[in-house]
Amino acid sequence: MRTVNRGLLELSYRLDLPFSLGGPVSLMVEPSAACNLRCPLCPTGIHATKRDGYTLSPDDFERALGWFRYTLQTVTFWVWGEPFLNRNLPKMVAVASRYHIASQVSTNGHFLEGPMLDELFAAGLTLLKISIDTPNAGLYTRYRVGGDFETVVRGVKHAVARKRALGARTIIEAQYMAMRGSEDMAAMIAHGRELGADQVRVKMLGIGSSVPEPTEKEWSLMPEAEALNRYADHTDVRPKIQWDDERCTYIWRRMVLNADGKCLPCSHDQLVKFELGTIKSGRSLASVWNGPAYRRYRRGIRQTQKNEIMCQRCPELVRKDLDPGVVFAARADEA
Ligand SMILES: C[S@@+](CC[C@H](N)C(=O)[O-])C[C@H]1O[C@@H](n2cnc3c(N)ncnc32)[C@H](O)[C@@H]1O
Ligand code: SF4
Repeated sequence: MRTVNRGLLELSYRLDLPFSLGGPVSLMVEPSAACNLRCPLCPTGIHATKRDGYTLSPDDFERALGWFRYTLQTVTFWVWGEPFLNRNLPKMVAVASRYHIASQVSTNGHFLEGPMLDELFAAGLTLLKISIDTPNAGLYTRYRVGGDFETVVRGVKHAVARKRALGARTIIEAQYMAMRGSEDMAAMIAHGRELGADQVRVKMLGIGSSVPEPTEKEWSLMPEAEALNRYADHTDVRPKIQWDDERCTYIWRRMVLNADGKCLPCSHDQLVKFELGTIKSGRSLASVWNGPAYRRYRRGIRQTQKNEIMCQRCPELVRKDLDPGVVFAARADEA
C-alpha cells in the first residue's frame, strides 16, 4: 500500500495536479505550541505563534488520520513549541506505532527526568532528538534563553540509562546547532558520543519568516565558518543555494497539523499565513488534503515560491546533495 502510494504521489507531482492521488507520506504534528524557553530565532520563543485554546488530543489525532494511517511512513511530533508539554504525547506516539508509522520527537531536554520518557519508550517511539545545541555550557543560554545546560545533560544521560534498562529500541539523537563561537564539529560529535547518544547531528541555524528583518542581534548568532553558515551575507536572507526552476515537492508529499487543529502547507509558515483547513468539528486530514484551499495552494505554488519569505528562506529549497540543514549525521558507535 505504501509503495503504491509513493508512486501515486510522484505521479501527482510530475503531472502538476492540483490534487494528490495518494495520501501524505509524512505528517508534522505539533503536540504543543507552548514552551518553557525563549529561543530568539523560534516563533514560539519570541511569542510570535498564535493558536486558539484547542489542543490536539489522541482521539482527535487518530480520528483525523483516517485512511492516511495506511499511507504515512513518518509522523514528526513537533512543529513549534515543546512536545513534552502535552501530557498525551505518548498516547499519540502509540497511535502511530499501532499503524506501523515511524515516529520522532524533538525536545529541548528539560523534562527528560519526568515520567513521560518511559511512556514514550513503551509507546514505541522511533527517534528521540534532544536539542543540546553546544558542548559549551557557557554558550548554551545565548540561544536557549531560560534553559539550563546541566538539566539537559543530566536528561540525556538519564534517557540513555532508561533506554538501556528498558531495552527500548528508540534511537536517541544528540542534536547540536552550529552557532557563533560553537563551531567545532569534532567537539560536538565527541560530546554527543560521551553522553551515550546513538546518533549525533549538527544542524545549521536558520532565520524564519517570524523574523522578517533580522538585525545584527540575530546575525551575531550565525557561525563564522563559511561552511556552517546557511546564508551568504546579511543583505540576503535566502539560503546560499537556491532552487532555480524546481517546484516545491513538500505540498504533494507532506502535511502539517498545528496544535490548534489547523492544517498548513509547510512548517516554515511560522505565522500561519496559509491556513488550508482544520481537523476540528470531526473533519479528517483527508478532507483538507484535497480540499479547495489545498488545490488553490498547489496551483499557485510557483508564484508563492517567488514571493513569500517562508519559501525564499526555505532550507528545503536547495539541492539535496548540498543541503545546508544537516551537516553531519552518523551512528555514535561508528568510529
Ligand atoms: C522548534 S523546535 C521544537 C521542538 C523542541 N522545542 C526543541 O527545541 O527541540 C524544532 C527543532 O528546531 C530546532 N531549531 C530551533 N530553532 C532553530 C533555528 N533557528 N534554526 C534551525 N533549527 C532550529 C530545534 O533544535 C529542534 O530540533
Ligand atoms: S525550545 Fe524549541 S520550541 Fe521552545 S523556543 Fe526553543 S526552539 Fe522554540
